[in-house]
Amino acid sequence: MTLKISVIGTGYLGATHAACMSSLGFEVIGIDIDPAKIASLASGTIPFYEPGLQELLQVELASGRLSFSANFHEISDCDLHFICVGTPQVKDGLAADLTYVFGAIAAIAPIIKAGSLVVGKSTVPVGTAAKLRSKLLAINPEADLAWNPEFLREGFAVEDTLKPNRLVVGVTNDRAEGLLREVYAKNLAEETPWVVADLPTAELVKVAANSFLATKISFINAMAEVCEAAGGDVTVLAKAIGYDPRIGSRFLQAGIGFGGGCLPKDIRAFMARAQELGAEQALEFLREIDSINVRARTRMIDLVRKDLSEDLRGRKIAVLGAAFKPDSDDVRDSPALDIAAQIQAAGALVTVHDPKAIENARRRFPVLNFTEEINECVVGADLVLHLTEWKLYREIDPAELLKLVSNPIIIDGRNALDRDRWRAAGWKFRALGRSNI
Ligand code: UDX
Repeated sequence: MTLKISVIGTGYLGATHAACMSSLGFEVIGIDIDPAKIASLASGTIPFYEPGLQELLQVELASGRLSFSANFHEISDCDLHFICVGTPQVKDGLAADLTYVFGAIAAIAPIIKAGSLVVGKSTVPVGTAAKLRSKLLAINPEADLAWNPEFLREGFAVEDTLKPNRLVVGVTNDRAEGLLREVYAKNLAEETPWVVADLPTAELVKVAANSFLATKISFINAMAEVCEAAGGDVTVLAKAIGYDPRIGSRFLQAGIGFGGGCLPKDIRAFMARAQELGAEQALEFLREIDSINVRARTRMIDLVRKDLSEDLRGRKIAVLGAAFKPDSDDVRDSPALDIAAQIQAAGALVTVHDPKAIENARRRFPVLNFTEEINECVVGADLVLHLTEWKLYREIDPAELLKLVSNPIIIDGRNALDRDRWRAAGWKFRALGRSNI
């Protein structure tokens, strides 16, 4: 008999997981407390931008296997319940806010059937799964809880969910592992690595992976600082060290650093949790990783001042990119938008372009000017900043753009543009971590 699956929380992670589980042939119901989100998903529209997801959602809705509801009681006959609710940073500290995960367990515990398995996917501080399991079992002794962290990247969410590079399951018994093996049978047949762990290790895998990625980015940004001081070029340095397979070339793109809904908050929550556990010394380095990351934004603004003047009041600055990374409309902790806002606060007249994130960016910083036209963004600009490496910015003809600006200076905050091409067209080209002479 086909397994019936519920997905609790239909944000970015949950909506993707629900559509992907349905595409594997399971009967899936997505549940959320936000009726607007449910109405949108049920009508085949995702309330954010993610390549390929909208199309998949529509196919799966039409198949009849996938549905959405705001009524928790509809999940009572499901065999598995994936918890995909958010765990944002608390407003008054570094820790993760666990209100939604505990709320989800409290809501479903009394109504789920005997033998069903609750599977946590949200990123939580180590120790949370065991607490949730005790709460669940206190109310519903015949249910069980496992942890199965997700590693999906925005922009590749569908691909990462259907073809993950590994599957990690934190379980306390063989039956739970067996049920998860059924869910992921297709991946197992394709020989996706399957890592069985206890609950705390499964929770830790996620934050350890994100800490490692954040460390790699801040490492190369630290090298960028040294390159600037010494007259070196961080892009050449990154390429050279990346050829060593022990290091690897990915996540060595120097620039304005990491942002988004995961990396920044996850490393902070990890530090906060380590402190509670008395292991703060072990993660002391993450404080430095965070500082290097935040400093990259300040260094970018320093470059702007160096090229224009200390006083930015009244200067026209064009910003290309608002999303925290390309192929996403997410502006949560976006380095690009943060820099745009800081420059605006210093008195500059900032106009921001982004192919997808304008709406979200405007909601966050209504004082900035926004446009959907690159030409309109740069017209009359004293300086252009390239802050999110969308493909369409690499396709710009620098010679054509030059005709529109007042002052042909561009600073590449992502080290993604072709410096020689821009210089050949007459631009003064600057970049973080490259000798800026
Ligand atoms: C990340 C993890 O990659 C994913 O496994 C986890 O599940 C969630 O968090 P995501 O937030 O989608 O995914 O973004 P990611 O692609 O990791 O990029 C994070 C940030 O780092 C972006 O702001 C990106 O611009 C920046 N970055 C990435 C760099 O500055 N340099 C790099 O070399 C790579």
